[in-house]
Amino acid sequence: MSKVLEVENIFKNYSSEGEDLHVLQDISFSLNSGESLIITGESGCGKSTLLNIIGGLDSATSGNILSCGNNITSMNETKLTEYRKRSVGFIFQFHYLLKDFSALENLMLPLLINGESKKSAREHALKLINDVELFDRKSHFPSQLSGGERQRIAIARALANRPELILADEPTGNLDEKNSRMVQDILFKIVDDYKRSLILVTHDSSIKNKGNFHYTIKSGRFVNL
Ligand SMILES: Nc1ncnc2c1ncn2[C@@H]1O[C@H](COP(=O)(O)OP(=O)(O)O)[C@@H](O)[C@H]1O
Ligand SMILES: [Mg+2]
Repeated sequence: MSKVLEVENIFKNYSSEGEDLHVLQDISFSLNSGESLIITGESGCGKSTLLNIIGGLDSATSGNILSCGNNITSMNETKLTEYRKRSVGFIFQFHYLLKDFSALENLMLPLLINGESKKSAREHALKLINDVELFDRKSHFPSQLSGGERQRIAIARALANRPELILADEPTGNLDEKNSRMVQDILFKIVDDYKRSLILVTHDSSIKNKGNFHYTIKSGRFVNL
């Protein structure tokens, strides 16, 4: 198995009004291709901060991250943009689907932006929408979909550009228990089918056994339970 991610001694401090907030303190781990990692922890413990650093949306105070063949801690903004576009698929608590486009068009857009022809983008998007079991909702606009359905489209969109690494930040945080389970099942199945690597962060510890590995963040450090 090849290594997708190596996180080495990551520290993250925030300063406000002269006080240093030590959010992450010496986080290290690695992830192989096709593996999934669940990170839990109380609200405010640094889960989103860590995920954003790995996704190139935020920078660490110190430490190194090798992700999908890139040393992202030393990349300039142009290279980071490319990394975010090609190597990483993001899923957030809020779906961020474009409201004036249908479910299918929302999946076609990242493919068209990446240079795929309209025909190929449509075929690929149809396959993705089928994977998340929403083929019969392909012409619906986001406002015509339920919360769980919108998150399933967001999952399909995260996979559209075939990124090696999927980063999910509280992807079921807005859903009731039944929909939450359904969205989780689809996410883990699709990641497994496509052999992608997944890091999912959540305050919901009931999900912890769904991945290959589980860590909790406590006082800025990883605790392996
Ligand atoms: N831009 C920022 N400036 C200062 N403090 C921040 C900033 N972003 C997050 N924090 C603080 O860092 C801590 C971790 O936040 P976050 O990673 O969002 O936690 P979680 O996702 O686990 O709820 C919190 O105490 C939060 O207030
Ligand atoms: Mg968070």
